[in-house]
Amino acid sequence: MTQPAAPVLREMRWWDIDPVLVLEKDLFPEDAWSRGMFWSELAHSRGPDATRRYLVAESDGRVVGYAGLVAAGEQADVQTIAVARDHQRTGLGARLLTELLRAATAFECHEVMLECRVDNIRAQQLYERFGFAPIGFRRGYYQPGNVDALVMRLTTEPGSGPAAGSAPVQGTDIND
Ligand SMILES: CC(C)(COP(=O)(O)OP(=O)(O)OC[C@H]1O[C@@H](n2cnc3c(N)ncnc32)[C@H](O)[C@@H]1OP(=O)(O)O)[C@@H](O)C(=O)NCCC(=O)NCCS
Repeated sequence: MTQPAAPVLREMRWWDIDPVLVLEKDLFPEDAWSRGMFWSELAHSRGPDATRRYLVAESDGRVVGYAGLVAAGEQADVQTIAVARDHQRTGLGARLLTELLRAATAFECHEVMLECRVDNIRAQQLYERFGFAPIGFRRGYYQPGNVDALVMRLTTEPGSGPAAGSAPVQGTDIND
């Protein structure tokens, strides 16, 4: 039996929003992004003033993963990352994150931040493998479930090594 081809990563376009929303509702049932949120992100993802990089992973014409990052000055934020259930644990999440970090470098960002539900251990393990370290919490960040976010940071300044200066600070609240 032939192995299925590895998903191809490419830029997310407006026509991907419908299939992305199907995955979004399945993978984030409590706090799925709306169609308008994706439209508004993609509106900033092209041209010389682009501040966003959004990707999809496509396999046999089907969207099986997606991810997005926003850059603001020297800081980038991972906005979202998700892999269809039947493609999880195949390394696709790591491929998407690698591409986002490449985009952060292209935007000349030296720090990458992200928020993750405190109960999402699988995602936290992925981020830790890439050198992200926990730096605090945002209380009740995910609504309407009122679930806290763990804030993680990766510092990529030359010579500082991964996650330098971001030792875990258990119990630190971030309220900005
Ligand atoms: C978090 C998420 C994006 C990770 O995606 P993924 O494609 O499963 O990630 P990877 O395959 O790169 O790595 C996940 C695990 O699979 C393992 N793995 C990778 N390739 C593998 C393979 N060929 N065979 C078996 N295991 C493999 C990795 O070692 C890793 O193990 P760990 O969880 O014990 O650390 C995915 O679980 C997801 O979409 N979750 C729902 C949405 C979500 O929570 N997003 C994050 C919001 S903060």
